[in-house]
Amino acid sequence: MPEPALFECLPQLKGRVPFTLLGQWPTALEPLKLKGFEGRDLFVKREDLSSPIYGGNKIRTLETLLAQALERGAKTVWSTGAYGSNHALAAALHAPRLGLAPAALLFPQPPTLTAADNLARLVSLGVRLRALRSIALFPLRLAVLYTSKLHFVMLPGGAVAVGALGHVGAALELAQQVRAATAPWPRHLIVPAGSICTVAGLLAGIAAARAMDLWAGPAPCVHAIRVTPWPVTAKARMTALARRTASLIARLGAAAGNLADICSRLEVHGRYLGRGYGKPSERGQAVINELGGTLPFPLESTYSAKATAGLLDLLPRLDGAAVFWSTKSSAPLPPLDPSRLELAPVHVQRWLARAGLRAK
Ligand SMILES: Cc1ncc(COP(=O)(O)O)c(C=O)c1O
Repeated sequence: MPEPALFECLPQLKGRVPFTLLGQWPTALEPLKLKGFEGRDLFVKREDLSSPIYGGNKIRTLETLLAQALERGAKTVWSTGAYGSNHALAAALHAPRLGLAPAALLFPQPPTLTAADNLARLVSLGVRLRALRSIALFPLRLAVLYTSKLHFVMLPGGAVAVGALGHVGAALELAQQVRAATAPWPRHLIVPAGSICTVAGLLAGIAAARAMDLWAGPAPCVHAIRVTPWPVTAKARMTALARRTASLIARLGAAAGNLADICSRLEVHGRYLGRGYGKPSERGQAVINELGGTLPFPLESTYSAKATAGLLDLLPRLDGAAVFWSTKSSAPLPPLDPSRLELAPVHVQRWLARAGLRAK
């Protein structure tokens, strides 16, 4: 098994940051064929293929966070986020591999079938669930969770510096792949931004890759496509988390590089969000209708369709090679036991029914 790029490129971090291998690395970097953009140097980073158990961008974050939970002697790991959280489902499927019990504190989101598919799996897997009736209750319930030492709590999306280190590894991996394939250096990365963990880690990772001359091309522009609203996806939050991540790298003795240069090229695009997090947008739906089933990666309304809408819109004005970050797991979901849905609280059953899933 090759060393993950994070430790191969930044050996100073090895043994000094928590890490446990969960995914299959590197994820492929493939040419992406899009009608109307033939002849463009366009690629897709297949983060959706990061694990056959459950993949997507969250696996990189969990590799450090679940290891940190083990280091701290936690027995239970709490994911936090929306009802259809991919992070919560990924943790539910990967944490037991490490002997950790998964639990989730979740707040409501618009009922879509993809979100319901995830929540139903959490119920069906018997994950300890606190499904709030309102997001207004979230801060207090989160604060209560922090009071127990046996609980390890992950913020939504795992958006802390240790979590973002996983995506530092992804940027280093990308640089290694471009080098090995003698492909053109990407001038643009198009990435969905929800909790901002992925974007922040990529910013810090590109800066580190440039510091060691691994990234030999010019500084690229990261395009963050908002899938959650401001202020969650405020540019200042992205750069602040990138800075904390770069400081962690520097504290551990590795070169963190010129982060300010990379952050100055960060562009945040809000117009693909539509009416809010989890609400299907018109542009996203059009992308699903037009391209659904023709792309190598999954399209769903909350993340990938909105990000792809951004990609299609931006491409005509971007010069040079571009890489699209495919973040939604393409692994088949575990089988669902519909009879177990009856065990869910009534308000959860109602929400699932509104999304199109009924208990049997
Ligand atoms: C499928 C998918 N894509 C993209 C994102 C956004 O990534 P991040 O939370 O790191 O900004 C998330 C998480 O919210 C996700 O689940």
